[in-house]
Amino acid sequence: MGLKEISWDQALEWASPFPYVLVVSLDQGGRPNAMGVGWWSIVSWEPRLLAISVAPERYTYECLKARGEFTLCFPSKDLKEAAWLCGTRSGRKVDKFALGKLKGIPSRFVRPPLLEGSTVAFECRIKEEMEAGDHVLFLAEILATYGDEGRLLHLYSIHYRKLVAIDCKGTYKFDL
Ligand SMILES: Cc1cc2nc3c(=O)[nH]c(=O)nc-3n(C[C@H](O)[C@H](O)[C@H](O)COP(=O)(O)O)c2cc1C
Repeated sequence: MGLKEISWDQALEWASPFPYVLVVSLDQGGRPNAMGVGWWSIVSWEPRLLAISVAPERYTYECLKARGEFTLCFPSKDLKEAAWLCGTRSGRKVDKFALGKLKGIPSRFVRPPLLEGSTVAFECRIKEEMEAGDHVLFLAEILATYGDEGRLLHLYSIHYRKLVAIDCKGTYKFDL
């Protein structure tokens, strides 16, 4: 077979799965909102830094600009419906916490809450931002890290079209 040139669309499908996380922020009125994000990465070990790429039209963009803080939560398989909702509906139009029955747990260093039902979660404070084509890259410091031993199966996206679950031991669940 060997490598041959393929379309961008095909490459995104074959390069899948990509880890899928929820960025939780507070809006100007103090209401929490969660958005699905595939374009994120840890970018520094010391200090601990990560980056998320957020399109300016997202409600989350407005919330991050206003408040400079977020939590990044890995939704477990148990949150699959709510997690999909967070990637397909805007907090500008619906209350995703109410609709998805999402429950917040108070954070220690930032105001946006952690999500109950996460496998792992980080508290983050934005340090810098940079335009990146049609998105904006937010560089953030990780202030605290959490995990739930009882829930390790978290979600990955296949070409931004569907979600599968994989844990750190390689257990794979395709049909959620
Ligand atoms: C699998 C998946 C991955 C996504 N990744 C991103 C991303 O990295 N950056 C982004 O700006 N939007 C991403 N989105 C789209 C947003 O999650 C979506 O537009 C959401 O409705 C925005 O919510 P908000 O308006 O409440 O902020 C993704 C959606 C899905 C389904």
